[in-house]
Amino acid sequence: MTRAQHRALTDLWERFGIESGNAPLPIVELFGRQAPLMVEIGFGDGESLVAMASADPEVNYLGIEVHHPGIGHLLLRAEELGLTHLRVMRADAVEVLERQLPDESIDRIQIFFPDPWPKARHHKRRLIQGSFIELLARKLKSAGQLHIATDCEDYARSILDLLNVAPGWVNMASDHGFTPRPAYRPPTKFEQRGRRLGHEVWDLLFMRRK
Ligand SMILES: C[S@@+](CC[C@H](N)C(=O)[O-])C[C@H]1O[C@@H](n2cnc3c(N)ncnc32)[C@H](O)[C@@H]1O
Repeated sequence: MTRAQHRALTDLWERFGIESGNAPLPIVELFGRQAPLMVEIGFGDGESLVAMASADPEVNYLGIEVHHPGIGHLLLRAEELGLTHLRVMRADAVEVLERQLPDESIDRIQIFFPDPWPKARHHKRRLIQGSFIELLARKLKSAGQLHIATDCEDYARSILDLLNVAPGWVNMASDHGFTPRPAYRPPTKFEQRGRRLGHEVWDLLFMRRK
């Protein structure tokens, strides 16, 4: 962690940070306004999250990450850009969703390049599995969207298969397959590194059935 990131975690936390715990989050109070809520899980260094938040001032953005240098980086960028509609949690997103975000409270959830765990014996460590999809379905509002991107082909296909058959989801791709990267999603740091290694990328866009 750089010195600046370390400083950001203390000096900027009060402005952008939300402490994790067990109590449901008072979302309107934390953002100081009523607005659609977008939650990003595992934002990494947060560059794509701050770019999306800057381009979209009408939406409240909540980023959840466990990696401290990445959180420090995001805080520095959020300060530089003067963002007032971005909040950050330093926590396991599964716990935050289970304990602190009310059911049907989120308009969009995005998960870009979740840890791929490519070895078959590690697949059970992957974040996106059946029970997690059920959790996301409960937390999204009706017609809320789930956007996932990955450069790991077998992970992409397993998520597609899961979501295509899970009750309550509609694949926004007309052929029930993958979606071209929407213009609103900037390439992430992890994605750019993969591209340099020749990796393809798969985007999945699903809607919670109305
Ligand atoms: C492969 S990186 C991708 C980061 C970023 N989205 C990108 O594309 O550059 C996956 C990120 O997810 C975070 N992560 C993994 N499990 C998580 C969890 N349960 N809650 C929050 N963040 C998590 C990791 O710390 C890591 O930063």
